[in-house]
Amino acid sequence: MEKQNIDWSSLGFSYRETGVSYVSDFKNGAWDEGRLTDNHTVTLSECAGVFHYSQSCFEGLKAYTTEDGRTVTFRPDLNAQRMMDSASRLEMPPFPADRFVDAVKQVVKANESFVPPYGSGATLYIRPVMFASGPVIGVKPADEYQFRILTTPVGPYFKGGAKPISLKVPEFDRAAPHGTGHIKAGLNYAMSLHPIVVAHNEGFAENLYLDSRTRTYVEETGGANIIFIKDNTFVTVASDTILPSITRRSLEYVAEKYLGMKVEERPVPFTELTDFEEAGLCGTAAVISPVGRIVRDGQEILFPSGMEKMGPKIQKLYDTLTGIQMGRIEAPEGWIYEI
Ligand code: PLP
Ligand code: COI
Repeated sequence: MEKQNIDWSSLGFSYRETGVSYVSDFKNGAWDEGRLTDNHTVTLSECAGVFHYSQSCFEGLKAYTTEDGRTVTFRPDLNAQRMMDSASRLEMPPFPADRFVDAVKQVVKANESFVPPYGSGATLYIRPVMFASGPVIGVKPADEYQFRILTTPVGPYFKGGAKPISLKVPEFDRAAPHGTGHIKAGLNYAMSLHPIVVAHNEGFAENLYLDSRTRTYVEETGGANIIFIKDNTFVTVASDTILPSITRRSLEYVAEKYLGMKVEERPVPFTELTDFEEAGLCGTAAVISPVGRIVRDGQEILFPSGMEKMGPKIQKLYDTLTGIQMGRIEAPEGWIYEI
C-alpha cells in the first residue's frame, strides 16, 4: 500500500482531512444502510438538537500498521458497546455494535494510505461521532440523528511525547454523582474547556479532577484515566463517574497476565498519592503518558520517577501495550481486528 506523502514523525494531535468518512442517518425510526463519503462537511437546521441541547456523543480508537505490515485496530467492539451505552443515556438511538465495527473497517480500509507506517510514531485516529440532526425547540430528544466516522493521522497527544507531564487539581468538577461522567458525551468535554484553558495558561498539561461529592478521591483527567504504581502493584480508580477507559481495562489485564503485577481497581484517596512511585495517564489519545507532578492549591506532589523519563514499571506497561497493538507481542484472543 502506497502511503501518503506526510511527514509522519512531525504530526501532533490535530485534525487533518483524510480521503473519506463514513456516514449513516437515522430517520423515521431507523438507521439507513450507511455509506462512505468524501464530503467532510455537515449542513443542518439551525434548530438541530445538537446545537441547543448538546445531544451528542463520540468515540476514539486507532488504526496501526504492524511490524509485518498489516493494518489493524484495537478492540473496536468495546468502543461500539460504549457508544451504545452513551447513546442510551442521552436518549439517542444506539448505532448497532456489529455495524459500528463494520463501518470502522470500511473507513480504515478506504483510508489505508493515511494509516502511518510502522515505526513512524504516528497512528490513524478514528473518531466516531453521533449527533441530533433533527430540529427540536422544547427540551426533548430529536427525531433524527447522524452517525459519522472520521479519521485523521495523529502523533502524541501531549507535546514532548514520553516526557512526564504536570497535572493541576482544578477548583472545577468534571462529573456529578448519577450524571454523565461514565459516558462519552460531548457535554462532558464542553464543561472541561474553561478549566483546561486555565490549566494550560498556568503551564499544566491537564487537569486531574476529584470526586465532586467529597473532593477527597481522585477521578480522572479531562481526556484519560489515571494509573499508579506502588511496588509491584498497579493501582487504578474505581468510580461510577469516570469513563471506563478501554486502554485502562486492557492495561489491567496486561499488568496481571503479562507482567505478573498485582492489580487493584479501587477508590484512591488524594492523600494516598504521596505513597506512589510512578503515575501515568492512559487512553487512546494519551496511550500511556507519564505523570511527574501533581499540584493542588500550590502544594506539589512529585513522584519519585521524576520529570525526565517514564518510570520503569510504566515503561514496561507502555512497551507491552504498544507491542500488542503493533504486532510485536502476541495479543490476547479478540483484541486485534485486522483490516
Ligand atoms: N477518560 C476520558 C474522559 C476520555 O475522554 C478518554 C478517551 O477516550 C479516556 C478516559 C480513555 O478511554 P480509552 O482508553 O477508551 O480511549
Ligand atoms: C481519546 O483518547 O480517544 C479521546 O477521546 C480523548 C480526547 C481527549 C482526545
